[in-house]
Amino acid sequence: MTANNGRAASRHVVTNEGAAAEGKRKGTARLRPQYAHYAHITGWGMAVPERVLANAELSRLVDTSDEWIVTRTGIKQRRIAEGKETSTTLAVEAAQRALEMADVLPEDVDMIVVATCTPEYAFPPTACLVQEAIGAERAAAFDVSAACTGFIAALGIASEAVRCGSVGAALVIGTETLSKVTNWQDRGTCILFGDGAGAVVVQGSDVPGGVMSYLLRSDGSGGNLLSLPSIGAVRAPGVTGRLDHTIDMNGREVFRFATRAMASITREAVAVAGLTMEDISLIIPHQANRRIIEAAARGLELPDEKFYMNVERYGNTSAASIPLALCEAVAEGRVRPNDRLVFVGFGGGLTWGAIAVHWDVTTPPEVSRWRHLGRQTRIGFSRVRSLGRRVLRRVEGVFFGSQAAEVEPPHRGGKK
Ligand code: COA
Repeated sequence: MTANNGRAASRHVVTNEGAAAEGKRKGTARLRPQYAHYAHITGWGMAVPERVLANAELSRLVDTSDEWIVTRTGIKQRRIAEGKETSTTLAVEAAQRALEMADVLPEDVDMIVVATCTPEYAFPPTACLVQEAIGAERAAAFDVSAACTGFIAALGIASEAVRCGSVGAALVIGTETLSKVTNWQDRGTCILFGDGAGAVVVQGSDVPGGVMSYLLRSDGSGGNLLSLPSIGAVRAPGVTGRLDHTIDMNGREVFRFATRAMASITREAVAVAGLTMEDISLIIPHQANRRIIEAAARGLELPDEKFYMNVERYGNTSAASIPLALCEAVAEGRVRPNDRLVFVGFGGGLTWGAIAVHWDVTTPPEVSRWRHLGRQTRIGFSRVRSLGRRVLRRVEGVFFGSQAAEVEPPHRGGKK
C-alpha cells in the first residue's frame, strides 16, 4: 500500500491545564476535553491500494474505451483493494498518518467516526475495528452511513462534539472498497468507482477558525436512483443464497441531481459561515465525475481552478474522496494557512452536504523519533492487550460455560 502527503499540522492547543490540575486533585489525572469555541482540522492522512486499474484494462472487461471514460467522466484510473486489503485496513493506515501529523496519541482520541458504505461487518462498526487496531483505548467509535456524503456528515458530527466539549480530539475517516460491490459486467457503473481512505483529526481550540458551517440535506424519494442492497434487503419469495451486493445507478438522473445539489449547498454553507464566494480559495468536492464538478463551477459562476480535482487518479471513492482530495490538495500546495475552503459532497440517499472551513493550520514542530517510536510501542501494547482480553474471554467461557466465548471474533483490522 502507498500513501502520500506532505507534513503540516497545527498550533492549536486543545486541552486545558486547569482541567488537568483539577483532574489530578480528583485522582483522575487525564486531561479532559473542555468546551471549545472552534473545531480545527489538525492532521490528515490517506491510504490507497497499490493496485492500479487503468481504463485500458477495463476496456478488456466491458464494451468501453479509455476515450469514452475520460470524455464522460475525467477518470483515467482507479485503485483496487487486493488480498487482505479492506475498508478497515485502509482506514487504519490513513488514521495512523493523520494522528502522527497532528501529533495526537491514540489514547488521547475521544471519538472515532468512520464514514463508509463498504464495511466488512454491519457490526462491529468499522470504527471499532480501527479503535482496536490503533489502540484508542477510551474512544467512542461508530460508523456513519450517508453514501458519498458520509465524510461531510462524519466531520460535522465530530466538529459539533468537539465544540460542545465532550470530545477533545476526534478521528474522522472516510474509507471504501467499492471494487467489492461493483458489478464488473455493468459498463454504466464499473468505470466509475475505486478504493481508498482518508482521515482527519479534529481538535478543539479557542483560536478562531476551523469548521465554520455544516449543512446536510436529504431526499429519500431519489433513493432508487443510486442504491446498494444490503443484508436486510427484501427478497423475492423463494430466493435464497447470497445476495447480489452491487451498485445500481441511473447515471443521467444522478448527474442532474448532483450538479444542482453541489452548487446550491455550497452557496448555503458559504453564507451560513458569514462569507461570500469571493472569500473562498478552494472548493474540495466529492470526486465523482469531472463533468459534474465543471457543471457545478458554471452554476456557481466560478472558474474550474477553484475546484480541486483528482478524480482522474482514483475515480469515485465515495466517502473517502473528499479526505483523499484534501490530502493531495495540501501536499500540492493548493491549500495554504488562512484559506477559506468548502468541502461539498453528494450521493446515494439522496444526500448532499457542505462544510466551510477556515484553514488555520501552520507548519508543525517535527514529531521526534522518540515520540514516533513511543506511538508505535503503544500501538503494539494495545494489540497485546486486546489479544489478552480475547484469551481471558475464552478462559472465562471454559470455566463458566459461556457459549459466546466459542464464537470466533472478527479478524483484526489493520493487521498486516
Ligand atoms: N462505455 C461506452 N459506452 C457507454 C458506457 C461505457 N462505459 N456506459 C454507457 N455507455 C453508453 C450507453 O449505453 C448509451 O448508449 P446508447 O445511447 O446507445 O443507449 C450511451 O453511452 C450514453 O449513455 P448515458 O448513460 O446517457 O451516458 P452519460 O453521458 O450520461 O454518461 C455516466 C454516463 C454514468 C458517466 C454519467 O451519467 C454520470 O457520470 N452520471 C453520474 C454518476 C455518478 O457520479 N454517480 C455517483 C454519484 S455519488
